[in-house]
Amino acid sequence: MTEPIKVLIVDDITSTLDNLQKLLSFEPDIQVMATAVNGKEGVEQAKKLAPDIVLMDVNMPIMDGIQATETLAQEVPGSPVIIMSVQGERDYLRRAMQSGAREFLIKPFSGDELIASIRRVYQLEQKKESFLAKTTGGTPVAAAAPPDGGTPAGRRAEHGQVFFFYSGKGGVGKSLIAANLAVSMANETKGKVALVDLDLQFGDIGVLLNLDHSQGITDLIENIDHMDPEFIREIMVDGPYGIKVLLTPISPELADLVTVEHVRRIFGELRKMFDYIIVDSSAHLGEINLEVLDHADKVVVVTSLSIPAIKNTKLALKIFDSLSISPDRVVLLLNKSDAHSEFNKESVEANLRFPIAGQIPNDPKLVINSINRGNPFVTTHPESEISQRIRELVAKLLPTAPAAAEAEPAEKKSRKGLFARR
Ligand SMILES: Nc1ncnc2c1ncn2[C@@H]1O[C@H](COP(=O)(O)OP(=O)(O)O)[C@@H](O)[C@H]1O
Ligand SMILES: [Mg+2]
Repeated sequence: MTEPIKVLIVDDITSTLDNLQKLLSFEPDIQVMATAVNGKEGVEQAKKLAPDIVLMDVNMPIMDGIQATETLAQEVPGSPVIIMSVQGERDYLRRAMQSGAREFLIKPFSGDELIASIRRVYQLEQKKESFLAKTTGGTPVAAAAPPDGGTPAGRRAEHGQVFFFYSGKGGVGKSLIAANLAVSMANETKGKVALVDLDLQFGDIGVLLNLDHSQGITDLIENIDHMDPEFIREIMVDGPYGIKVLLTPISPELADLVTVEHVRRIFGELRKMFDYIIVDSSAHLGEINLEVLDHADKVVVVTSLSIPAIKNTKLALKIFDSLSISPDRVVLLLNKSDAHSEFNKESVEANLRFPIAGQIPNDPKLVINSINRGNPFVTTHPESEISQRIRELVAKLLPTAPAAAEAEPAEKKSRKGLFARR
């Protein structure tokens, strides 16, 4: 059996320590290795024991959880922190976000939430370590490399580019932009374009493009062992300008049937069949999203001018950073950038410490009309400003043309700098 996940719990209330310990004792893959009653003691224990995960209370005497988390992020980076805070501690929560904590649990939380969070943070850390081993270590390919040889080198041998659309929050316009971008990309490049809806439960691509949704990804996985290009093309639906669309399961409860392994195999095939693969996703950073994220050539993060959107984008960028997703691969997009708001591009960039690569204007009339008719606005109103901005995004996502390559190093450098600063 593999080693259990070693956890250090830091909380000044003895009964909380006891409860958490009891709760975790039922999980065979989790082992509480030590406890501490304040931040200072927590830091000392973590330095000595190098736990896999630190569960950290916020309000504690001597040294609080935020300060302890900041210290750990600097001095024991291999021991990621999950903060446990009480609802009304909003101010703390904001500080906690800056301190380098990986996740936040709001008390009272359920045992399931706690356990899921521990496993998730642990897995992300493992991925990060195996990635670092691959890129910096003397051993060329780490043992943790996926069985299908999905290493960066293996990836490049295949053909299609994957553009993964993500936002930490729904309703920011991710699906709308992904759909219009796919159509525009087909028109601009005349290449083979696939659009994949990975918002498996609540995908909207079928509705946005007014497609016949009588089959979807579950029809592929039912016959996954006989999956060949011809079969895949049959299951995909025809969209505007010759794009091919892989839709969600026809019913939300079928979403659970789709596994990471399925997704890995499907994308392996799609990369051989298409030049560009545009992926719409759900906000949930579960296994499937992480798998595609890991292998995507570009990750387009969509945000908007609202506090929840910005907050979730910040969290997402932090998670990407901890997953060692290079900032060069991240394209930050501000949607409804001219909407009335107390924020603007500059304040969002300052807050996120990440440059905005593109802005999409707010155009409710055109957008609502386009959604109601199921006609992408890039086809019906190609000269509108919103369509022009989408075309600019197409150009940005395409592999760098030789002429533009000169300007790249400087931009890369500044992005990296911005990304690394916390
Ligand atoms: N640039 C825009 N201008 C006007 N309305 C927009 C714009 N982007 C998105 N919307 C509106 O926001 C809604 C949510 O967009 P959607 O793409 O479904 O978001 P997500 O996929 O992020 O949940 C859409 O129904 C649309 O009416
Ligand atoms: Mg959506």
